[in-house]
Amino acid sequence: MLSRSTAELTPSEAARIRALLDGAFEGRFTDALWGQAIGGVHFFVEEDGVPISHASVVPRLLAVRDREINTGYVEAVGTRHRNRGKGLARRVLAAARRHIDDTYELGALHSVLPTFYEHLGWERWRGPTFVRTDSGLRRTETDDGCIHIWRVAATPALDLDEPISCEWRPGFVW
Ligand SMILES: CC(C)(COP(=O)(O)OP(=O)(O)OC[C@H]1O[C@@H](n2cnc3c(N)ncnc32)[C@H](O)[C@@H]1OP(=O)(O)O)[C@@H](O)C(=O)NCCC(=O)NCCS
Repeated sequence: MLSRSTAELTPSEAARIRALLDGAFEGRFTDALWGQAIGGVHFFVEEDGVPISHASVVPRLLAVRDREINTGYVEAVGTRHRNRGKGLARRVLAAARRHIDDTYELGALHSVLPTFYEHLGWERWRGPTFVRTDSGLRRTETDDGCIHIWRVAATPALDLDEPISCEWRPGFVW
């Protein structure tokens, strides 16, 4: 398992990770998604010098009611097609979670996959989702049911039915 901050990635490592994600997401991995996947720490497995599974963790500030929570947000989870079903995503996500355990008050991510993350022990947020903007809280209904959390020792008491918000960012806010 390799781990590198985005700043530590060589340009060719970054390009190879991007190529993995372009393939894994079948052309749906946009520049905006890449922009959201950098600025934190990358966890990846290589085969013959080529990344075949990846996840990154970037810092975000989620809030439940008025309590801001320093969150490690998981982005860009992908495994090369021919290497799927061998536990690689499970491994990179375990490494990502260890980093979250050591660094943040909470882990979180957005996924439309119905069971993948719950199967790996993540909890699905049930309450309504919002984004914090200059003009106040804005509902993000289409993201309801897609947010998953990972509790760590430092996580405050959280009720999965409460409203949850993220800070605004360009592209997909969640
Ligand atoms: C989803 C994805 C990352 C899984 O990668 P993988 O390396 O094949 O996953 P693993 O082999 O580590 O699987 C871990 C567990 O999840 C299960 N699983 C794998 N893919 C799944 C899926 N799409 N839906 C539900 N469960 C899934 C596996 O059965 C396995 O469970 P088990 O260990 O009890 O058998 C991969 O299919 C992928 O890159 N998909 C396209 C990109 C994508 O959708 N990324 C996630 C966006 S949030």
